[in-house]
Amino acid sequence: MRPLMPDRYRQVSDHESIERIKARKLELGRRLVLLGHHYQRQEIVELSDFRGDSLGLSRDAAKQKDAEFIVFCGVHFMAESAEILSQPQQIVQLPDLTAGCPMADMADIFQVESAWREIDKVCGGENVTPITYVNSSAELKAFCGRNDGVVCTSSNAGSVFDWGFEKTDKLFFFPDEHLGRNTANKKGIQKDKVIVWNPEEEMGGNTRKQIRDADVILWKGYCHVHTFFKLVHVLEIREKYPEAIIIVHPECVEEVVDMADADGSTGFIVQFVQEAKSGSTIVIGTEINLVNRLAREHPDKKIFELARSLCPNMYKINLRNLLWTLDNIGEINIVTVPKQIKVEAKVALERMLEII
Ligand code: 13P
Ligand code: SF4
Repeated sequence: MRPLMPDRYRQVSDHESIERIKARKLELGRRLVLLGHHYQRQEIVELSDFRGDSLGLSRDAAKQKDAEFIVFCGVHFMAESAEILSQPQQIVQLPDLTAGCPMADMADIFQVESAWREIDKVCGGENVTPITYVNSSAELKAFCGRNDGVVCTSSNAGSVFDWGFEKTDKLFFFPDEHLGRNTANKKGIQKDKVIVWNPEEEMGGNTRKQIRDADVILWKGYCHVHTFFKLVHVLEIREKYPEAIIIVHPECVEEVVDMADADGSTGFIVQFVQEAKSGSTIVIGTEINLVNRLAREHPDKKIFELARSLCPNMYKINLRNLLWTLDNIGEINIVTVPKQIKVEAKVALERMLEII
């Protein structure tokens, strides 16, 4: 059973938590590395040794060969990826094991394997490359590893699509329909060659011909934080702030991405803001903690949100459960992946790291 955080931690003030976390970090020194995703609360990001997007943090995690403990401040699939890429003696901890990603949970291995069999039957053995977004379970990464597929993140989806199309004429992409569609659009794939696989329906809700003719089959999954942004938000900003540059995450729906000035991973958004001219107005369609931080860090630019949207799972990591985890380093909130799954998932993740 998962241990519950003892009550005494709930009573620790922010100030005391920060001081104690800093002291634990000093004590542990190079034995510990603390990774923080861009969507984390400000105080967590400030305490992290590395901050980044999913791809950057996967790379950072893979490089930390000497650290004994990797504490991942993010959501479960991110910590799981770090665990898959870690050295055998390393321990990966997530301060709240219930910090999941609802989109990652929209495709499970049984559904994906059943879809894979149906697609294979219809396509008569034609090769298809499976690609899983990093926002997915270790089982799905392992599935891609053993079926000549690969993982992608929002910052390398384009290169990963190119890699897939060099091998096969068809891609099967899960679980985010929108990242998949936006990537297919950027690659210039005809819209009628992109179909959606709804796991609730027979043949994913498609005819045999549609499946045979498709270049890309997209899983019907979405991120509630990003599908919250609507075309009307973009139109309102365009009217009120005609000078504004609108930048969004590619998990947003197609019409929002199409109407924005730029789209990209959280790392891309951070870099875009850093490089923008002083005095520019930048409106951002992504998780609110990142938008607020960028606004604070760039007072010379006018930065605000397209609409307020918070990821409640990212928000679960806080000073108290981080302190509790550091006080019990190597003991609690450990992320584990069964051996066989880890071996196959690592193949798919390492393939991704080689592509770009
Ligand atoms: P990034 O890879 O852009 O950091 O995205 C992770 C994520 O979960 C976005 O919702
Ligand atoms: Fe998942 Fe969306 Fe939260 Fe990212 S923002 S972790 S995709 S729910």
